Amino acid sequence: MKAIKGLSFVVLFSIFTVLGGGVVVRADGTAKAVPTFAKDIAPILYENCTSCHRPGDIAPMSLITYRDTRPWARAIKDTVLAGEMPPWLADPHNSSGTFRDERILDQATIDTLVAWVDGGAPQGEGDLPALPDFPENWTYKDGEPDYVFELPVEYEIAAEGQEEYLDFYVAIPWEEDRFAEVIELRPSNRSVVHHAGAYVVDLPPGTRVGEHGILETFDGEVLDRDAASKLSRKNSTRIEQQVFNQFNLAGSSKLISYVPGRGVERFMPGTGKRVTAGKYVRFTMHYNAVGQVETDQSKLGLWFNTKPVHHEVLTRQAGNPVPTSAFGHDIYIVQGEEIVPTLDENGERVRPKIPNIPPYEGNWKITGITPITEPITLYGLSPHMHLRGKSLRWVVTFPDGREETILDVPKFDFNWQIHYELAEPMHIPAGSKITGIGVYDNSLANRWNPGPQLEVYWGDQSWDEMYQAFTEYTIDSQDLTRLIETTDGAQE
Ligand code: HEC
Repeated sequence: MKAIKGLSFVVLFSIFTVLGGGVVVRADGTAKAVPTFAKDIAPILYENCTSCHRPGDIAPMSLITYRDTRPWARAIKDTVLAGEMPPWLADPHNSSGTFRDERILDQATIDTLVAWVDGGAPQGEGDLPALPDFPENWTYKDGEPDYVFELPVEYEIAAEGQEEYLDFYVAIPWEEDRFAEVIELRPSNRSVVHHAGAYVVDLPPGTRVGEHGILETFDGEVLDRDAASKLSRKNSTRIEQQVFNQFNLAGSSKLISYVPGRGVERFMPGTGKRVTAGKYVRFTMHYNAVGQVETDQSKLGLWFNTKPVHHEVLTRQAGNPVPTSAFGHDIYIVQGEEIVPTLDENGERVRPKIPNIPPYEGNWKITGITPITEPITLYGLSPHMHLRGKSLRWVVTFPDGREETILDVPKFDFNWQIHYELAEPMHIPAGSKITGIGVYDNSLANRWNPGPQLEVYWGDQSWDEMYQAFTEYTIDSQDLTRLIETTDGAQE
């Protein structure tokens, strides 16, 4: 193929014009018809690309018509060959887990795209296939949720400038806990929402929800993310950390993440996420400037359980120093050395600060080991790192010593915070361990690195770092239906 690439474009072009259809000569001398946009390429793009590459969506250009697509032919070839498009970071060859809605092109599809580009990217004849149905409204069954939480303000995103990271709070109005079987986080303007999350949280002590759902002190001082990050950077006292790291507050949990192409989570009937009475939904929004002023008012839709819930889907953030439900104490190994937890003045276990990443360090390795103390069922994993994140690998070690890499992300990309939902939930017996191996690159080789000369702190901002993996699981022994009967006074 390489050899005939040198064949001038003019020659190929004249073949098309003369014959009205393309032929390429392959390296072995056989001829093959060049794929055409109408017949071969549009179906591939509609199935794999236009969910993002269409007007108003997250990708910078549409790939719907031949006119839209032709200028991008070479870039399409390059990005699919490099495995950059469609965005999917898990290595299917090294991950034992099969994930729902995997975005992976098979080799035949890649070959077809490449042959089309190498053959001059012809349009071909005939009608284009029908476009897929793009949901205009809620994605889940194109229906209406049972309950909708809305961002308390129509937020205006400036045309230019630093991406925004913002928290908005909305009170949960019901008086008894409810369970969601389906959750959808839906931007009203997909072109500006880079990613977003919704959590159930308590308000930090000493704070209240002010105008537009913004957190403030009782004196009315607005607490933005920046203030929070500066504070948590300067100090590490537990109270302050708790105030600003609300994941760790009792009763808080992550409901869902939105990343382009993904914003719906479905749980099995009989399981669901708890939306706790009297708490707050926190929207965490990460906006992109797109060259003109835009607004967004994202919504969180809940479909309540259709069957009595026996198992609550829980989310645990690896790195939580406090053992929760079916998990023991996390062990941290940084560059080969264990970070041994200490006790604070109240006798509470605290993890000493993870050492900062030194300037120009290209391979900073953190291994977190989480012991499983009760049988659990695992549904999904969300690795989360920032701009120095280089790779992440998730390994389960079973009680008999057998190891299984469930998820391998060899080239982490901050821009794609993907939630990996297992196609088949995985049972993990007590006595197992989940090990997450994260590697960070603070060198010049990392093209996303905002400052290789800087020591990298651990914090919320994208120029700080994080080592987090959210796991979604249920505890096998839990039986909420019995619990509910018992609290009602019924006999077990
Ligand atoms: C989940 C959303 C999503 C899907 C699916 C997707 N893309 Fe993209 N694509 C993006 C976004 C966002 C960008 C711009 C940012 C970037 O380059 O990462 C982009 C950028 C590109 C670029 C431009 C790269 C450059 O040189 O600037 C090409 C080419 C491309 N995509 C091709 C494809 C093709 C071909 C497919 C399907 C096989 C596809 N994409 C599927 C979101 C997507």
